[in-house]
Parts: sequence; C-alpha cells; structure tokens
Amino acid sequence: MTELTLPENPFRQGIDLRRVPEPSTLVIFGATGDLSRRKLLPSLFMMHKQGALPSGFSIVGFGRRPWSDADFRAFVKESLDDSPGQQPTRDVWSGFEQMLFFARGEFDEPEAYGGLAARLAEVDRQRARTGNRLFYLAVPPSGYPLVIEGVGRAGLGDRRGGPDIARFDAAESNSPARVLTEAGWARIVVEKPFGHDSPSATELNRQLQAWFREDQIFRIDHYLGKETVQNILVFRLANGIFEPVWNRNTVDHVQITVAEDLGVGTRGPYFEETGTLRDMVQNHVLQLLALVAMEPPTSFAASAVRDERAKVLGAIKPLVGKAVDSDVVRGQYKSGFIAGDPVPGYREEPGVSAESQTETFVALKVFVDSWRWAGVPFYLRAGKRMPRRATEIAIQFKRPPLLLFGDDPAREPEPNVLAMNIQPDEGITLKVGSKLPGPTIDIHSVHMDFRYGTSFGRRSPEAYERLLLDSLLGDATLFSREDSVQEAWRFVDPIEERWRERGAAPMAFYEAGAWGPKEAANLIAREHWAWRRL
Ligand code: BG6
Repeated sequence: MTELTLPENPFRQGIDLRRVPEPSTLVIFGATGDLSRRKLLPSLFMMHKQGALPSGFSIVGFGRRPWSDADFRAFVKESLDDSPGQQPTRDVWSGFEQMLFFARGEFDEPEAYGGLAARLAEVDRQRARTGNRLFYLAVPPSGYPLVIEGVGRAGLGDRRGGPDIARFDAAESNSPARVLTEAGWARIVVEKPFGHDSPSATELNRQLQAWFREDQIFRIDHYLGKETVQNILVFRLANGIFEPVWNRNTVDHVQITVAEDLGVGTRGPYFEETGTLRDMVQNHVLQLLALVAMEPPTSFAASAVRDERAKVLGAIKPLVGKAVDSDVVRGQYKSGFIAGDPVPGYREEPGVSAESQTETFVALKVFVDSWRWAGVPFYLRAGKRMPRRATEIAIQFKRPPLLLFGDDPAREPEPNVLAMNIQPDEGITLKVGSKLPGPTIDIHSVHMDFRYGTSFGRRSPEAYERLLLDSLLGDATLFSREDSVQEAWRFVDPIEERWRERGAAPMAFYEAGAWGPKEAANLIAREHWAWRRL
C-alpha cells in the first residue's frame, strides 16, 4: 500500500483520510465528449478542490483531436467556466491543471493504444509512480469493444498487483511484446447503457472479461451515487422502527417516479435506438426498486449488498405477452408547454423520425415474488417532458383495520405515506393523520419533514464525485454487477419483444408538460389509487 500524502488544502472539509485513494492515473476515453465535459471533469475538479484526490493523481484525456497537454488544459478550463458554480479560482486551478495530460489517438487504431501506454508510463514516472490506472469509457457504446480490446491488447488491463504484471514501456520499444514488470492495479469503468438486451449485455461482459476480472469492472449507474439514494438503505437499516413495517403486512403499494421536465434535446439519435424503458427503467428505476425491496444484507461489504440487490431483481415477476398490454403503458410526448414555454413534440426533435415509435414515458405495475413483498404492487413511471423534475419513492401503507371515526369522508384518515424525495428537494416526508383543532373529530393529513439542506447545511456531493472516488478506492458497492444487469434485462426484454410484435398499437400520447398519458392514470386507478402529485 502506497503511503498517502495529501497536499495542503484550505478547502478540505470533513474529508475522511481513509477515503483518500492511492495515487493513480485516470484515463478518460471520450475526454472531449458531453459526459466528460458536463459531469466527469467538474466532479474531478470539485474533488480536487476539497482535497479528496491524492498528490500524484493524474487525468489523461484520450481523444482524436491533435492536441497538446496545453490544449487539453484550456479545454478543461473552458468546460469548468461553463459549468454552474464551478468557475475555478487561480490557486485551485493551478493545482488541478498540473494533473491534466492528453494522449492523442483514434479508438479504432490498435497502434494508438501503444502510444497511450507510452504516455501513461511517462506520466506515471513524473507523478503517481504506482502504476495504478482507472480507465473510464465515456465513449458511445459502439466504441466500447474497440477500447476494451485496445486497452487489453496493449497489456494495460491485466495488472494483478503481483510481480509478473506486464506493462510495456514504449519509451524503450514500440512493441506491446516488450514488457516492464511493475505492480499496480487497473480498473475499468463502463457507462450505461450496458448492452441493449440480454444477449448484447452478455457479449459486452464477454469482451470485458477477456481482459479484466469481474473485480476490476465498475459498471456505473449514476443513480446509485446520489446521496439520497444511498440514504434509502441507511434509513431502512439504521432505524429500528421502519424495518418491521417494511413488508406486505403493512404496505399497500409502492410508487416510484422518475420525472424529467427536459426533452431529448440533442440526443435524438441515441434515444431513437433506446427509449425510456432501456434508458431509465432497465437501470435507474429498477435499481431504486432494488434498494427499497431488497433484504437487509448480512454486512455492508460490497458483495453482500450486491447479492441482495441482484436477488430482488431476480424476484421481479416477468411481464410477458398480454400482461405487457395490461400492465405496461408506453407513451410519447407531443408538443406542449413546460413552465409556460412552448416545446416541440418528440417527433419534431432533431434526429428523431417523424413516425417514431420510441417511447419517452413508461408506467408499469410490477410484483416482486418474495416472501416479504408477495401481492404488493410496485407502480413505476419514468418520463421526459413532464411538468417538473422529480424523483420520488413513496411507500403507501394500508389503512388502519377499523375506521373508528364514522362514515363522513372528512373523518376518514388518509393512508400513511412515507415519501423519499431523491431529487431535487432531497428529503423524507411522512404523512400522518391528525385531529384538526376544534370540538369535532376532523382528520387532516400533516407532514413530518426532513430536508437534507436544512438539517445538514452542507452540499451533497454530485453522484459522479462519489462514484469516481469509489472506483479509485476499488469499492464496488454502488456499482452494478454482471448478474444484476442480466436480471434487469431479463425483465425488460419480454416487454420490448411484445412491443415489437404489436407494432405501433400500444403507443399512448401525452402533451409535453403533462404527467404522462391518461392510460398511466388508468393503470393505477384500477386499484382505486392515483399517482402522487409531485
Ligand atoms: C441518464 C439518461 O442515464 O439519466 C438520461 O440517459 C436522463 O436520458 C438522465 O436524462 C437523468 O439523470 P439525472 O441525474 O438528471 O436524473
């Protein structure tokens, strides 16, 4: 284990030294792309600003532009300047700038990876001197196989920390056969989408596992890095009062909503191939469901938590054939208004076909076939161009067994609801019935509220900050394992298949700025409930 040295940093607040990674080099494939610019670089900069990165840490951008390190540094500076609240001060920037390097190359040129290896060896000699590397695939999914193969063939993936580690040093030779022995770890971070169905996910895993062991592979679902998502388990398991009621005896149903006000923007071509079921449900929504429905793990070790997540995903009852027609609603937004401004329909977005059959909204009713949840419906919905951005998990409890307060509806208590607001107003609310002051018994719902902002008065780190840190530390708890990814496809594939069989028939349209199509309201109204108003 390399001894940690941390630079003096006046901004460091509450950084846990056990959570400072070893010196290492992060290689970003697709360093000039959207993800890198909007999420990765600002998160890394924030980590640097707070002193969460070790000295000797480096970031190597890999891309096709004929850039020098100075060009890359100017690009990063510009990206940070454009990023809200991130404008770097001179001091902090000068520390960050020294970490940045660029390696030029095309993903599909095998020789480019030899050049990259040489660049990494050179950067490593100057800075980390550990040989530790984290490869980040921030490229379109079609580029994954090329990059994985390139990294693997260059001997950059197979670093087991032992004396026989192979690393070729292109300062001495340009041939990958020429190796230097040096210890150090290598890990690879893969962005979603992780395949587009079960066979393609299996193939991607096969490609990865040809060069990396499972414990070197970090599949990102950025929802798992969100602070409030991590709090779901803490809330359930650090408080004795909730777990006893967290089951079919007391819970009537669960609602999970992931609503966005944005449309597809410039991502039309990607979205046409993907749709909301694959883009949001297969990963983010099912992972939220897994955290709510999983059994308590035997410890907080990565493998124990991931085992339970995978088990619950495996227990979701598949929706096949006619069950898809009755329990899944697929919708697409038409033109409408968001916050008073007119917005185009999905079919008018750039890169989208005028007859597109791609869904921008999905609502589903699913069951988890487990001892704990048998018979409890989970209503899930995710969509774009809804009235506002809101992600919420609501546990609705059963009514009391006896309604003691008479027939008057004003006296009938509403069911208790525990709502976990994931974003944007992060917090937890419990709805309880209470007597309205006065001489009669009138029951009104009141809310017991906890807000992150007011309770802790400190900023929640961005999901990518947490996930980058964890991948540098080698902590895979918040990453998806191969079996979870496969279980999620096992659920999604038959729905896609049914939609393909039925063609255009089941598409339900909604105006931009509405909470989805009326069919979604009907889905939950069958049980006399309604979606929560958010
Ligand atoms: C991404 C999806 O994974 O998540 C996008 O590809 C979506 O379509 C985004 O907009 C939502 O993430 P967040 O963090 O803004 O809720």
